[in-house]
Amino acid sequence: MKKRIGVLLSGRGSNFEALAESVEAGRIPDAEIALVVSNREGAEGIEKARRQGIDARVIPSKGLEREAYDKLVVAALQEKKVDLVCLAGYMRLLSPHFVAAFPQRILNIHPSLLPAFPGLESQRQALEHGAKFSGCTVHFVDENLDAGPIVLQACVAIEDADTPETLAERILREEHRIYSEAVRIVLEGRYRIEGRRVLLHAPKGSERK
Ligand code: GAR
Repeated sequence: MKKRIGVLLSGRGSNFEALAESVEAGRIPDAEIALVVSNREGAEGIEKARRQGIDARVIPSKGLEREAYDKLVVAALQEKKVDLVCLAGYMRLLSPHFVAAFPQRILNIHPSLLPAFPGLESQRQALEHGAKFSGCTVHFVDENLDAGPIVLQACVAIEDADTPETLAERILREEHRIYSEAVRIVLEGRYRIEGRRVLLHAPKGSERK
């Protein structure tokens, strides 16, 4: 049976699109995107998902306590029998209730080499700090901000002429690449977690004889 992915987003949705393309192209095999949820009305990602015929819902978070809101989202994901939750530009911290409902089944993509530059405007933070390299991180999600064991990272060199926008653009290309790769690894169970370390197993059929 196909593995079912739920995507949560708050805006543009380019990481959602990259995941959807990878599913379509078989780079994430035996999987489907079962549901897309946004906490914000008018999130472009919702329109993009609907155009592809994917069930895409806005569940507005305004005025609701974190846990009350998360219960609504968890219920929608459970109703759609989602195996893996992918945060893709989802600008909310998850409650312990949410994390417990999908143990080691929630991934996030973040535009820096964590633990450097968590939170908002990570590309600007990296530039202002004078870092020579930044990049992106796919990690399992826990209750803390941009924490949780790291599955994959990609490095991007920072150039003298970079602005937050030009750096964000180059990092985004790497985000789209490694998010699909990480989702595949997790859905295929090709990893084990030791403490904070995610140790990756070789793809099936690639072992040395
Ligand atoms: C991406 O750069 C993603 O890494 C970042 O928001 C952007 C969403 O773009 N996420 C975070 O900063 C989470 N802490 P997208 O909507 O086009 O995928």
